[in-house]
Amino acid sequence: MAQLIDGRLVSKKICENLSDEILFLSKKPCLAVIIVGEDPASRIYVNLKRKKAQELGIKSIVEQMPTATSQQELLNKIEQLNNDNEVNAILVQLPLPSHIDTKAVLEKINPLKDVDCFHPYNMGRIATGTKPYVYPCTPKGIIRLLEYYNIPPQGKHAVVIGRSNIVGRPVAQMLLNENATVTICHSKTANLAEITKTADILISAVGQKNLVKPDMVKEGVVVIDVGMNRTDEGKLCGDVDFYGVEPKASFITPVPGGVGPMTICSLMQNTFDLYNIQYNS
Ligand code: GUN
Repeated sequence: MAQLIDGRLVSKKICENLSDEILFLSKKPCLAVIIVGEDPASRIYVNLKRKKAQELGIKSIVEQMPTATSQQELLNKIEQLNNDNEVNAILVQLPLPSHIDTKAVLEKINPLKDVDCFHPYNMGRIATGTKPYVYPCTPKGIIRLLEYYNIPPQGKHAVVIGRSNIVGRPVAQMLLNENATVTICHSKTANLAEITKTADILISAVGQKNLVKPDMVKEGVVVIDVGMNRTDEGKLCGDVDFYGVEPKASFITPVPGGVGPMTICSLMQNTFDLYNIQYNS
């Protein structure tokens, strides 16, 4: 039987510490979130971020912009927030409407306020084994979970399924920086199961339920499930066939209650860290 990796517990501890530190600040850190359009999932995520910020004493500004916002209008909004000394951290909620060039938008954010670590300056620093201002939220949450449960990546074979800029690519590079041997798999990978069977640490960040089945993992594997999917009954589930895989794993994250709570906690920590970098250096 696997030990459950409890993201709710770990994130609660981190958030409690954060809230204690923020309590003593006369000027509070400030996070600005831009949301363009009416995507219902994005609205839920942004609300969760706003609530968590409020809970921890972080100021948040939500800029809701209409779907028809032009690229230039969005760039102007980012410019305005870049120049606003009251704003420490900027997050542009993804996905953006299809008429907007996401890469150009993310490159507009001042790297010093880039709370998601999506700017090529910060991503490039991870890729070159140099510290970015802050690490991307979900990968940072995953690394923290591994630390908390004393699972050092050094020398391990870490297999990452998914090559998104949000999770797959950065987490692979961060694990490489931690001296893991890293394989990245994706939708065009041949013989996925042959590769995943050799994983000591398996991270799935695809968004496809039941992608990882028991015959695709070896005994003792550490499983990190980043998937956020719905079962046919409408319940939240990950990429991993949890009940099938769990008996073979040494550690496994549940969905919900695994990686998810860590992401939002990293976002708050990043806002605080950017505040400190901006005011104390
Ligand atoms: N959409 C889904 N995940 C994320 C995230 O981590 N950051 C942003 N900005 N948008 C997202």
